[in-house]
Amino acid sequence: MAIPTSRTDREAEIFIDDAKCNGCGKCVTVCSDFEFELVHGKSRMTGQTHFGCIACGHCMAICPQGAIRITGREMRPEDIFPLKVHASQIDYEALLSLLQSRRSIRGYKDVPVTEEELQKILTAARTAPMGIPPSDVNLLIFDNREKVRQFTSDFCRLLERNKWIVSGWLLALIRPFTDKRTIDFFKKFIRPLLFFYTDQMKQGHDIVTYDAPLAIYFYGSPWCDPADPIIAATYAMIAAESLGLGTCMLGAIHPFLQSGAGVRQFREQYGIRYKSREGLVLIIGHPTMKFDKGIERTFAHVDYYNKPHPSGHTSS
Ligand SMILES: Cc1cc2nc3c(=O)[nH]c(=O)nc-3n(C[C@H](O)[C@H](O)[C@H](O)COP(=O)(O)O)c2cc1C
Ligand code: SF4
Ligand code: SF4
Repeated sequence: MAIPTSRTDREAEIFIDDAKCNGCGKCVTVCSDFEFELVHGKSRMTGQTHFGCIACGHCMAICPQGAIRITGREMRPEDIFPLKVHASQIDYEALLSLLQSRRSIRGYKDVPVTEEELQKILTAARTAPMGIPPSDVNLLIFDNREKVRQFTSDFCRLLERNKWIVSGWLLALIRPFTDKRTIDFFKKFIRPLLFFYTDQMKQGHDIVTYDAPLAIYFYGSPWCDPADPIIAATYAMIAAESLGLGTCMLGAIHPFLQSGAGVRQFREQYGIRYKSREGLVLIIGHPTMKFDKGIERTFAHVDYYNKPHPSGHTSS
């Protein structure tokens, strides 16, 4: 049995080089699918796995002898490489400063992001964790201001056609089948946002993608874990920040590309391969403003779980 993704429905093949194996057992420990066992001091395949090899690559990356080769599910043995810097050498303070100095940027200079910068961003983003390898994240890249602008004005035209989705009569019609919070969300956020985007665009102001010189749409596939495109976009964002670029995540585009009048044609026109549960547009460029101050933020709740007492009271 193999776990299917948009790119494969087969398990990967495993090859163990007996001559190289020293019987350390690391592959046995690291494979969550129980692919390996030690027999007479050598790694052997158990043949009793749950899902078959998903090509996570852990065994190749851990084997000190280079005795394991994984082929298939978009993985090749030559994809393994020695790490230059161990994770523990990364300075937490430097990383925190980078994260603290990030702000969502909504004003960009008319300066392109270079192809070299883009490739660096993509190289970093490809390291993101993924639900099931190989990654089911798709990217659509608009690599200059004109392309971003064209996409955005077409998107606003699509919104114009679909304004009925937020009309009073439709919300009244669906009210019995949904909760008040959803109706409120539509009335107080989605409807004004839709009108704000389209009205501003008519006046020549792009408040959707803010005239950015680079936009990358990360979206999933029907097989994808919905979190995958978001995680990849986050990695790309941090990489772009490390190159001194400004970024902003845009959540408002993807939902409007899922259904509605003319949406399928729009997806076809732009080569968007799938409807998908989650997606995000990341815009990147040289900010017109630099911030000198960070902002302390909070989570909604941070609860430490305490095991309940048998009496029913929660321990402190
Ligand atoms: C999932 C997600 C979707 C977002 N969508 C938009 C958007 O459509 N337009 C926008 O201007 N900002 C968008 N933002 C940026 C947020 O408004 C921003 O992160 C928030 O105001 C906090 O500000 P900061 O990023 O500068 O800390 C989005 C952020 C996230 C994480
Ligand atoms: S990790 Fe490599 S050397 Fe160690 S038992 Fe597995 S195959 Fe052999
Ligand atoms: S690639 Fe991952 S799933 Fe496949 S054998 Fe190695 S550790 Fe197991």
